[in-house]
Amino acid sequence: MSTSAHSPTSDRSDLSRSRFEHIYRRSIDHPEEFWAEAAAEIDWVKPWDQVLDGSRAPFYRWFTGGRLNTCYNALDRHVERGRANQLALVFDSPVTATVERYTYRELCDEVARFAGALRRLGVQRGDSVVIYMPNVPEAVIAMLACARLGAIHSVVFGGFAANELAGRIKDARPKVIVSASCGIEPGRLVPYKPLLDGAIELVEDKPDHCVILQRPQLKAELDERDISWEDAIAGAEPAECVAVEATDPLYILYTSGTTAQPKGIVRDNGGHAVALKWSMKNIYGVEPGDSYWAASDVGWVVGHSYIVYAPLLHGCTTVLYEGKPVGTPDPGAFWRVISEHGVSVMFTAPTAFRAIRQQDPDGNHVKRYELAKFRALFLAGERLDPATLSWAEEHLKVPVIDHWWQTETGWAIAANCVGIEQLPVVPGSPTRPAPGWNLRALDSDGRQVKPGQTGALVVKLPMPPGASPTLWNAEDRFREVYLSTFPGYYETKDAGFLDENGYVFVMARTDDIINVAGHRLSTGAMEEVIASHPSVAECAVIGPHDRIKGQLPVGLIVLKAGVDRPHEVIEAEVVQLVRDRIGAVAAFKTAVVVDRLPKTRSGKVLRGTMRKIADGEGYTPPATIDDPAILGEIGTVLHQIGYGSGRS
Ligand code: COA
Ligand code: AMP
Repeated sequence: MSTSAHSPTSDRSDLSRSRFEHIYRRSIDHPEEFWAEAAAEIDWVKPWDQVLDGSRAPFYRWFTGGRLNTCYNALDRHVERGRANQLALVFDSPVTATVERYTYRELCDEVARFAGALRRLGVQRGDSVVIYMPNVPEAVIAMLACARLGAIHSVVFGGFAANELAGRIKDARPKVIVSASCGIEPGRLVPYKPLLDGAIELVEDKPDHCVILQRPQLKAELDERDISWEDAIAGAEPAECVAVEATDPLYILYTSGTTAQPKGIVRDNGGHAVALKWSMKNIYGVEPGDSYWAASDVGWVVGHSYIVYAPLLHGCTTVLYEGKPVGTPDPGAFWRVISEHGVSVMFTAPTAFRAIRQQDPDGNHVKRYELAKFRALFLAGERLDPATLSWAEEHLKVPVIDHWWQTETGWAIAANCVGIEQLPVVPGSPTRPAPGWNLRALDSDGRQVKPGQTGALVVKLPMPPGASPTLWNAEDRFREVYLSTFPGYYETKDAGFLDENGYVFVMARTDDIINVAGHRLSTGAMEEVIASHPSVAECAVIGPHDRIKGQLPVGLIVLKAGVDRPHEVIEAEVVQLVRDRIGAVAAFKTAVVVDRLPKTRSGKVLRGTMRKIADGEGYTPPATIDDPAILGEIGTVLHQIGYGSGRS
C-alpha cells in the first residue's frame, strides 16, 4: 500500500509556528491537562477522580469517578442561566409545510414530560430504548428524555428495513421502542408501523411497550403493546435529571463494516459532553446563541452529535430539517433555511451539494436569498471532490471546510479548526488531525510510512474523549476489529497519507464499506442477502463511482447450475430482496447475472479490480488471476449496464 511521495501543501506557510500547532501539541503531549480544562465547560454533579484511566489499556476511559447528566448540560443549565427564552430547536419540514420553534424552556419541559412518560412505562437508568423515527422534534425529545433518565438510547435510521431493525433490537434489548406512524419521502409515505411490527415479530425478547407518534399524514393502528405519544405524555410527571457515571453509556449507535453483523458503537456521557462542547467553539467557530444546522438525519452519527448534542450543549439554536436538498417544493430550500433561521454554520455531506449543483449549476437559487449571518459550510461523510468544493466556495462565498470522521469517533479526527485558526484549505484534504487525535499512516508491518506515502490511517491510543470506548456487549469484538492489527493504535479502516505539513488525505476504505450518498453501507451485508436467494450460487457487490451519490452498489450474480428462469426476473427479485431485508437506504437498484466472477488462484473474488473496470479506470490485471479472459467479459457486462468507459 504505497504511492510515490508528493506534497500538495508544500507551498503553504510555515505551520509549525501557528496557534493551531501550539494547541495541537499540547493536546497530544499533555492530554489530561488539556481535556481537564475543556471539562470545566461542563456541569458536573461530582468531579472526576481521574481524567484518563488507562488501568485497562487498550481500553481507556475518560473522567472516571465523575458524575453528571448530559440532558441537564444540554437543556436545564441554559434555562437556569439566561437562555430560557432563546430558541433551542427549529424544526423546518418542507415535506409537511411546517416550521415549529421550541425555546430552551419549552424543549426542556417537553423532554422532562416525555422522560416522565418513559419512566411510567418502566424505563430506568441503564435500560435501553430504541428510537425508530423520521427527522421530527419528537425524535430529539425522546433521545434527550433517555439521557435525562440515564437510560441508553439506540436510534435506528428510518430507511432501514424490518430485518435490520430486528438485528438492532435483538442486540440492544430495549424495554421500550419509540416510533412514528410514518416517514415522508418524496412522492410517498413510509408506514413505519408494519416495519416495526415485522421487526418485533423476528425477535424473541420483545419490548414491553411501543410509543407511537401519530402523524396526521398517516395514522397507524395500535395494538395492545402500543401507546400513542399523546396518551403516553398525558398526565406524566416531569422527570428530574438522574446523575450518571461519566463512563455510563449515553447511547448505542449501530454501524456497518467488517462483517454483516452491525456493530453497536457505544458513547459515554462524560467524555462525549466534554469533547462535543469543545468542538463547537474550536472546530466550527460557533458561539453560544448562534444558529447551527446539520442537514443530516438523527439516525446517523452526524445527527446525534451535531443536530442534537453539541449545539445544545453549547447553548446554540439547532435546526432540524425534514426533507431533501432538491426536488421538493423549493429548489433553493437549503438557502431559504439558512436565511430564514439565521444559520451561522451549516454541516452536511458533499452528496447533497452534488445534487444541488446538478439542478442549479449556476447557483441561481442561491442569489435569491440573503445569507447575512452565514459564516462557514462544513462537509463530511465522504470525500469532498474538488468540483463540489469550488462550486460551494464560488456561490456561497464562505469558507468550505472538509472534515473527516466516523461513527466510532463521534467527532472530527481531522479538520480545519476555524475556531482556533483557519489554515489554508487544500482541495482533497480535510486539513490536519484535530487536537486530541494522534494520527499516523502505517505500513502493513506497523511501521510509520514517509510523508506522502499511503498507509493504514490509525490513531495512537488513547483516543480523545468522545470516541467510542467499546462495542455494546462485545468488548472482544472491539479489540479484534479495531485494536488488534496494529497494537497500541485504533484502526480507522481508512487508507491515506499525511504530507510533510501534516495535512491528511483520506483515499479509500480498507474493508467492505462503500459510501452511498454519505451513507455507510456494507457490501458484505448485501452479499449475504443476495446469497440467500435460492437461484444464486455466488455473488459480489461492488461500489462503482456515481456522479451524485459518490458510489452506488452493483450486484454481480452467478446462478446455480440448472436454473433456467429469465435472468431479468431473478435480477429484479434480488433487487427487491435487498430492499426488503436491508432497506431503501441501500440504494441497491442493479443486479446483473454473469457467467462467473474473476478470482485469484486462491479463490479470492477480485472486487477491487471489477470496481476499477466499472469506473473506467486503467488497471493492470493481477498476476495471480485465475482466468484473465473473465475480466474482459465482466467489462462488457458493466459497459452494457452503463458503467465503464461508456458511462457519462
Ligand atoms: N426513511 C425511509 N426511506 C428513506 C429514508 C428514511 N429516513 N431516507 C432515505 N430513504 C429512501 C429514499 O426515499 C430512497 O428510496 P427510493 O429508492 O424509493 O428512491 C432510498 O432510501 C435511497 O435514499 P438516498 O440514498 O438518500 O437517495 P435520495 O435520492 O432520496 O437522496 C440525497 C439523495 C443526496 C439528496 C440525500 O441522500 C441527501 O440529502 N444526503 C445528504 C445528507 C445526508 O443524509 N448525510 C448523511 C450523513 S451526514
Ligand atoms: P460514518 O461512520 O457513517 O460517518 O462513515 C465514516 C466513513 O466515511 C469514514 O471512515 C470514511 O471512509 C468516510 N468519510 C467520512 N468523512 C470523510 C471525509 N471528509 N473524507 C473522506 N472520507 C470520509
